[in-house]
Amino acid sequence: MQITFETKPYPTLETEALVTYVFEADEPIQGRVADLDRAAGGLLKKIATSGELTGKSLEFTLLHAPAGLKAARLLLIGAGKRDQFNAATLRKIAGAALRSLKAKSVKNFAFLPNEGLSAEDAAQAIAEGLITGDFETDKYKTDKKDKKIDSVSLVGFSDSEKPAAEKGLARGTVIAESQNFTRDLVNEPSNKLTPRILAEKAEAMAKESGLAVEVFDEKKIAALKMGALLSVAQGSAEPPRFIVVTYTPANTKPGAPVIGLVGKAVTFDTGGVSIKPADGMEKMKYDMAGGATMLGVMRALAALKPSVKVIAVVPATENMVGGKAQKPGDIQTAMSGKTIEVLNTDAEGRLILADAVHYAKQLGATHLVDAATLTGAIVVALANINVGVFGSDQAWTDKLLTSAKATGEKMWQLPMDDEYREFIKGSFADIQNIGSGKGGGSITGAWFIREFAGDTPWIHLDIAGTAWNDDAKPWLAKGPTGVALRTLVHLVLNAS
Ligand code: BES
Ligand code: ZN
Ligand code: ZN
Repeated sequence: MQITFETKPYPTLETEALVTYVFEADEPIQGRVADLDRAAGGLLKKIATSGELTGKSLEFTLLHAPAGLKAARLLLIGAGKRDQFNAATLRKIAGAALRSLKAKSVKNFAFLPNEGLSAEDAAQAIAEGLITGDFETDKYKTDKKDKKIDSVSLVGFSDSEKPAAEKGLARGTVIAESQNFTRDLVNEPSNKLTPRILAEKAEAMAKESGLAVEVFDEKKIAALKMGALLSVAQGSAEPPRFIVVTYTPANTKPGAPVIGLVGKAVTFDTGGVSIKPADGMEKMKYDMAGGATMLGVMRALAALKPSVKVIAVVPATENMVGGKAQKPGDIQTAMSGKTIEVLNTDAEGRLILADAVHYAKQLGATHLVDAATLTGAIVVALANINVGVFGSDQAWTDKLLTSAKATGEKMWQLPMDDEYREFIKGSFADIQNIGSGKGGGSITGAWFIREFAGDTPWIHLDIAGTAWNDDAKPWLAKGPTGVALRTLVHLVLNAS
């Protein structure tokens, strides 16, 4: 899909569809929509007066051959209340427009932002909405619908706004394409994405983007004494991989932070001997979403070039049942030297993150963020709406929450009182991998990882509820979401 700028006056644009949006108000026909209404001889006001066009969020009004306009269709999308309008709203509108027009076999359309955002922010949000909205999960369907959007022109940007809009378009394109890179990885079934294949894809991405990459095989992982990661991997015929991708800026200031991004990549989670129920187990191919997110972030950073060093650390393994699998009660020694009693083999994400977080610190990370589909309990707490946020350092955590707000990703911080730490005190080893208390499953999971972060400012994102859309949204296909990528890219750019 091509996205270009078009400077022709929009009422005279010849296009298959002209798309814009209206705000929910007593008089929704305002701003540029009022211009269109004048060209169309008051048709839009008439529809609004009839009550059919109100501007309610994602209300669709599609007019064919609107009199006075050269466009074959005019699509007006409800943007909700104007005082709540932001880049996230515009992103959804652009995505929803693309998906609805694509379903109608439209190939080319024009998008006209109404008032409300700077040219740069608007162009970025539109690009992000269009490109993430265009992503489909039909890779393995042999009867693919040949519905495809070829090009979208962005209209309504004045010559003086053009440079800023171009910047926004470029940034939005990089971020959205990286988000789709992540979503593509998450969508792969586990037979097509083993730890080895994930490592190959990470290497290919790094080479293409000009990033440094290292992949450790099972021998190197053993030599490094990553006992927690190995304990999860030992039940699988597929060997684990440990992926390290590094972005080094051209110039670093002395004393600048080094950001470590650690992502859980369990390419399939059966639960191991503490096996999961069959119903819904197929979804556990997405248990590598945290790792895929960090790889996508690195892909974006390579193009956006922040002035801060970033290291992504992605431990990749399956969690399988079998004669060699670890068993409840087994005691493992992590790379840090801490001993872990594995009371439940299904709490495997925290095990592999233990070694990855420790290793990221060894590489010099001064600030850590991990992302993981860690707990079913986060779905109980926050449903599929908010990412669960946990942190050991409020200043660092606040930065992330600010980035989440700025990029329109819903995230909610949960408490990490010391009392919860008691839940994972081990009976026969230093710590145990599930809590002994009742409830607080996501918090005990976070505390387990924090044990390995130590004094290094650390944030944990539990994306188990948000990395996968069980149902399609008007602006996004069903399946992988690529959640947290935008926030993390913003966080790194802000730290530099
Ligand atoms: N990958 C799962 C988390 C998960 C579970 C995501 C259900 C989405 C839906 C993780 O490895 C896991 O199984 N966690 C256990 C932890 C428990 C044993 C303490 C869970 O949440 O049930
Ligand atoms: Zn599990
Ligand atoms: Zn898991």
